[in-house]
Amino acid sequence: MSSGSKTDKQKAARNGASRQGGAPADAASAQGGAYPRDFASTQERIVPMRLQKFLARAGAASRRGSEALMTAGRVTVNGQVVTELGSKVDPAVDVVAVDGAVVTLSDTPVTLMLNKPSGYVTTMSDPHARHTVAELVPCERYPGLFPIGRLDQDTTGLLLFSTDGDLANRLLHPRHHVDKTYRALVKGVPGTAALCRLRDGVVLEDGATAPARVRMLASEPQDAPGTARVELVIHEGRKRQVRRMCEAVGHPVLRLHRASFGPLELGGLELGSWRLLDSEELAALGKAAGLAC
Ligand code: URA
Repeated sequence: MSSGSKTDKQKAARNGASRQGGAPADAASAQGGAYPRDFASTQERIVPMRLQKFLARAGAASRRGSEALMTAGRVTVNGQVVTELGSKVDPAVDVVAVDGAVVTLSDTPVTLMLNKPSGYVTTMSDPHARHTVAELVPCERYPGLFPIGRLDQDTTGLLLFSTDGDLANRLLHPRHHVDKTYRALVKGVPGTAALCRLRDGVVLEDGATAPARVRMLASEPQDAPGTARVELVIHEGRKRQVRRMCEAVGHPVLRLHRASFGPLELGGLELGSWRLLDSEELAALGKAAGLAC
């Protein structure tokens, strides 16, 4: 059932290094006891479990994504296609597969952050053969890793990845109001009226945006005349939301960077590098996602 011994996984976690910096991730948590929900210790209580929950826990996709895999007929249990969302499996005996590849529960979920460079699409595989974020994170070392939410191809900054579908689901659920901080270079210099509109909520084609915290960082910086740097803190996660908000108030985004996600900040992580979250960050993230520590 398990895809590797706990010792192997802990060793892998300890040896994790950023692909650019190359420094060992000494600060990275060994993921075991420090993780807010130690899966291994709860295993007995969740057998048998709903198939979509199993898939999410195994990192096949988020909970909703797992349901979509099932209804699309891509999931088999002991060789039989299962599309019924209420179906249960016993992880100790049932063999679950997605598109023919066996999926197993890992006893130590892994969560990491990437400082995403521009030019990479947020997907683990792309039918159009564009560069994807999968090229930048250790997919082979941590099977089942997937991005939590997305950044546009041209957006840089903090992108989280996890093998824990439940954590991802919770972090992305609007109920949890997880703040994301963006720094935008915009065309022109927004005046008070434009800043107020951004703060109060802008009407977009998919509805008005929730109130945001917005502040001007620099007006007409020396290296970019005719522009301004603006910081926006939003908790929604709609497609191209910041770009559409700024466009709607007459100041299109020229560059966009995500500096923080909930309690997490990039710190000194270099563009294109990743690192495992440490135990404090995991606990803070779990709290932000509404998980008891
Ligand atoms: N808002 C955007 O417009 N783009 C992103 O990548 C993230 C938030």
